[in-house]
Amino acid sequence: MPGGGVVAVTGTADVNRVEAPVTVKAYLVVAFAAFGGIFFGYDTGWMGGVLAMPYFINQYTGMEYPDVKFPGLSSDNQQVKDYTKTFVIPQWQQSLTTSILSAGTFFGAIIAGDIADFIGRRTTIIIGCGVFVIGGILETASTGLNVMVGGRLVAGFGVGFISAIVILYMSEIAPRKVRGAVVAGYQFCITIGILLANCVVYATQNRRDTGSYRIPIAVQFLWAIILATGLAILPESPRYFVKKGKLDKAAHALARVRGQPIDSEYIQDELAEIIANHEYEMSIVPETSYLGSWMACFEGKITQPSSNLRRTVLGILMQMMQQLTGINFIFYFGPVFFKQLGTVKNPFLMSLVTTLVNVLSTPFSFVMVEKIGRRTILIYGAASMVVMQFIVGIIGATAGRESENNQNAVRAMIAFICLNIASFATTWGPAAWIVIGEIFPLTIRSRGVGLSTSSNWFWNCIIGVITPYLVADQPHSAKLGSNIFFMWGGLCVVSFLFAFFMVPETKGLTLEQVDKMLEESTPRTSRKWKPHSTFAAEMHLGKFTPMTTTSWAYANNYIRPEAY
Ligand code: BGC
Repeated sequence: MPGGGVVAVTGTADVNRVEAPVTVKAYLVVAFAAFGGIFFGYDTGWMGGVLAMPYFINQYTGMEYPDVKFPGLSSDNQQVKDYTKTFVIPQWQQSLTTSILSAGTFFGAIIAGDIADFIGRRTTIIIGCGVFVIGGILETASTGLNVMVGGRLVAGFGVGFISAIVILYMSEIAPRKVRGAVVAGYQFCITIGILLANCVVYATQNRRDTGSYRIPIAVQFLWAIILATGLAILPESPRYFVKKGKLDKAAHALARVRGQPIDSEYIQDELAEIIANHEYEMSIVPETSYLGSWMACFEGKITQPSSNLRRTVLGILMQMMQQLTGINFIFYFGPVFFKQLGTVKNPFLMSLVTTLVNVLSTPFSFVMVEKIGRRTILIYGAASMVVMQFIVGIIGATAGRESENNQNAVRAMIAFICLNIASFATTWGPAAWIVIGEIFPLTIRSRGVGLSTSSNWFWNCIIGVITPYLVADQPHSAKLGSNIFFMWGGLCVVSFLFAFFMVPETKGLTLEQVDKMLEESTPRTSRKWKPHSTFAAEMHLGKFTPMTTTSWAYANNYIRPEAY
């Protein structure tokens, strides 16, 4: 009865019927979105390698190649060794080119949330691909610092759109039982992206022409084309349409993402639950003006686990702590760091090994996030990284020192660095993204995910800027060398405490049930919480009055009183 009054009839009171069953085709639809991770990974992966490329260093600094400066001398010669150490891009340029991407991404992720609410999740990701291509063209064309930095900034904007909204999109369309695994698939694609970047860099590193860095950069266009084309075919998120009050479109989109006919009872029940939850959230924190809707992200008490403020802070800190585990120190500055250890023969090959460990360990998380749960793996992951990083720090400060020239000690350091990567890849890597996709109510979800993602990039940027100054063996640097692992290990202690005291368990729940769980439990009791009622049923029982009548009148077209 479109245009009617307040509708008191609702979907289902059965907590097991709040999500429609899913077909294989529908799983594939959801899985494709994970491809967005390739962008993220590839773009962060090529810079470290390019910065260590002889041609790139020669072009940017004007310094002669070591073999040109010392013709006929082998690389083991002390004079050549000393010169090779100084044959690097200056720290400030390393910092700038690495971190400017994250600066662009930071702003991209913040505004992406707004755009995704305005024009839809899917279209925002497609626009992100377009922006990214423009940045990529500048990067490929560059022969000096300025154009490269400009290109990285623009490309960063695009990556910001993609990294925030793919998470939002996937979390909104994935079935609850595999939502964690599907978002972990996104993390898997990030790791594949980093690996691919390393492989391409490895293949072109010794070229003495612009192809050395242009080829790795240009490969990125392929990812943009694949993602944009794929998303043009995929359905929009039904939750976006519910937020917009376009319930007919929401029903169509939901039917497509679940692979069910539109008139299926399951689709009607699930849609009713999403609508009821949205109305409920709107009744607590109504959306007002544009500014008011931003302010809504910070409403409520920090001590209340379900308040918007608490959820926003949780998302922002979650991504901050993920970055402060120090994982990107290894991926961004791996080649430079391994070169400094002095005893590592082939630093490029070493970073290829570390990225391979990252890729191969991530799939374990697909099962772990669903079976063990997000909260638990975050706690154990942080604890494991504390141990690994302290061991690396201790060996580096003792038997692993360059002056000791102890190959076995360096091998042991590398082994523990790899174990640290595996700990990250199975826990904090995927779980940080999964949690931010799940904790926000629909009213502020796009902004919450955007803010959390921008926190990831903000800290990513800070790490990009400061680490060359912390570790490099150059004037004006703290020369921490491998002692930096004590710092990362210490920060992982903070991550451990954060996960223990602040992160709730969200596995197996629909996004709407997460909302209820946050209201009725604390992070430490959340694992035991079980769904006991539906939003649709509560509406029916008159626990609250729907705010708007029009959307309910529309909704009524899809809800059968007899189903209740
Ligand atoms: C992080 C990235 C990191 C990657 C490594 C992601 O979850 O956000 O910063 O480079 O994992 O696999």
